[in-house]
Amino acid sequence: MSESGFTPRVFSGIQPSGGLTLGNYLGAMKRFVDMQEEGRFETIYCMVDLHAITVWQDPAALARNTRELCAGFIAAGIDPERSILFNQSQVPEHAQLAWIFNCVARMGWMQRMTQWKDKAGKNRENASLGLFAYPALMAADILIYHATHVPVGEDQKQHVELTRDIAAKFNHDYKVEFFPLCEPVIEGAATRVMSLRDGSKKMSKSDPSDMSRINMTDDADTIAKKIRKARTDPDPLPSEIDGLKDRPEARNLINIYAALSDTTPDKVLAEVGGKQFSEFKPMLSDLAVARLAPISAEMARLMADPAEIDRILTRGAERAREIAAPILRRTYDIVGMVGPAT
Ligand code: TRP
Repeated sequence: MSESGFTPRVFSGIQPSGGLTLGNYLGAMKRFVDMQEEGRFETIYCMVDLHAITVWQDPAALARNTRELCAGFIAAGIDPERSILFNQSQVPEHAQLAWIFNCVARMGWMQRMTQWKDKAGKNRENASLGLFAYPALMAADILIYHATHVPVGEDQKQHVELTRDIAAKFNHDYKVEFFPLCEPVIEGAATRVMSLRDGSKKMSKSDPSDMSRINMTDDADTIAKKIRKARTDPDPLPSEIDGLKDRPEARNLINIYAALSDTTPDKVLAEVGGKQFSEFKPMLSDLAVARLAPISAEMARLMADPAEIDRILTRGAERAREIAAPILRRTYDIVGMVGPAT
């Protein structure tokens, strides 16, 4: 089935499990903002609280993290008028369609998911049933809007492919062309942000050292200090990309600089090649502070007004349901579930 009959629509989600880093900003949110600005798509962004509880979440922390993630989206540039911004649990159609997909997806498909294998670890018997079914809920997130484009990190590509398999099997089994085959939109290497302490590891909220990451809530002084102390090597910067081979820390700082200044690593190196880190780091620090400090300030402002955040989320959920409810109803009709005619 070609997707030509479907409205170009972007859906993506982030788990409200706490600790937003520069990796979330450059790898996800900034790209979501770019897609909103492009004007080519309807854009729908979701705080996936139902996914978060597939592993234990303290209730108070989940509520705080959901509001903080919402503040992060808005501070990063998501406009809740132009995009639809909401938390997953408030649009019950996600869970309802997920049940149908639990009956379409096969156990064997789920067992092959690398995230399941990684997260369940050795003790699979003790993992939640929700963790196993996670990809079917993700497929429902996307397909309940008939979304056509799904910006995700490399680690989620397999789940988007599974979403296509679920859509194709549903369409085939029920002899319809109802669900689109969505495309993953994968981030480039330049937006993969690595640890400031070890350029071979992804920047992570769970790294024990806070110096390994820049948090979206860090203030200007903290950002500057972390960049000043970031690990580097003794050589000057190369003028071309090839020269970053086997220099993961240098590569990471160049990538961050390029992403923050909306340019490419080649262009950055053409400008800074030959400089020592002692000269480059203050440049990076100034840029990072200029870009990120306003975001953390805006997040703090929004977090001081949780009622405003809750109003935004309520309105977002209403708008999401306007799209989701008729698609669920038509799905039920296709499956043979008796109810109000459409
Ligand atoms: N699984 C995604 C992650 O952990 C989050 C997510 C849930 C998602 N539903 C989605 C991403 C739908 C894209 C589309 O990063």
